Amino acid sequence: MEEKFKMWKNFLLPYKFALDELKTKVNIMVEETKYMEETSLIEHVKTRLKTPDSIMTKLERKGMKPTVANASENLFDIAGMRIVTPFKSDVYQLYNLMMNRTDLKIVEVKDYIRFPKSNGYQSLHLIVKVPVTLSKGIEHIFVEVQIRTLAMDFWASLEHKIYYKYEASIPAYLEKGLKEAADTVKELDDKMKLIHDEVEGLHTSKVISIHVKEDEGGRKR
Ligand code: GTP
Ligand code: MG
Repeated sequence: MEEKFKMWKNFLLPYKFALDELKTKVNIMVEETKYMEETSLIEHVKTRLKTPDSIMTKLERKGMKPTVANASENLFDIAGMRIVTPFKSDVYQLYNLMMNRTDLKIVEVKDYIRFPKSNGYQSLHLIVKVPVTLSKGIEHIFVEVQIRTLAMDFWASLEHKIYYKYEASIPAYLEKGLKEAADTVKELDDKMKLIHDEVEGLHTSKVISIHVKEDEGGRKR
């Protein structure tokens, strides 16, 4: 194996372990909630490790030498986890569960749900410190966790595609369309939650009414 490649592979190993550990912790939180509340907080979870190439590119973009030491000290998204939930309330329930764990430390929170980005991007971003026990002792590894709803994730994937297609300079009409779609995402998330809670009997007052006439697409079952 080429020496440099081996060095990066060795550097990345604890980040992989941190993701493995975090996946287990998230599974425990989700399964426990499922057992107690008969509801699933997550739709799916994805993890990714940055490649050495993308780590070096990011360091150079930040005006730093592309070394392992610089990566370890300055990058907090070498390991990434994306948690996609059904509802917005699930995002915050997961956040609370993570906050209450003594084996995780949340060191940064960016709430782009309460304060969306100007393009409309919504997601809750956390930087979490995960303890990993190695033969040489415990290492604390940073993981960037993005938590968002299915609708927010749908929007973000499309925006990401468009952003790369136009190399970051999205035409104004598409930008406007995306912004409108982001508002629709918010509306959809709120409406789905209301319907869900109504069906589950979580609301005593009738907040919404669902009238579907047969000829307006009412489904016969
Ligand atoms: P970098 O780590 O250098 O990207 O800067 P930062 O730490 O200030 O970034 P931030 O926490 O705002 O976002 C980090 C990650 O969130 C990005 O790498 C994307 O995966 C995602 N993200 C942030 N903004 C957007 C956006 O406008 N659209 C999409 N699709 N994803 C975004
Ligand atoms: Mg970042």
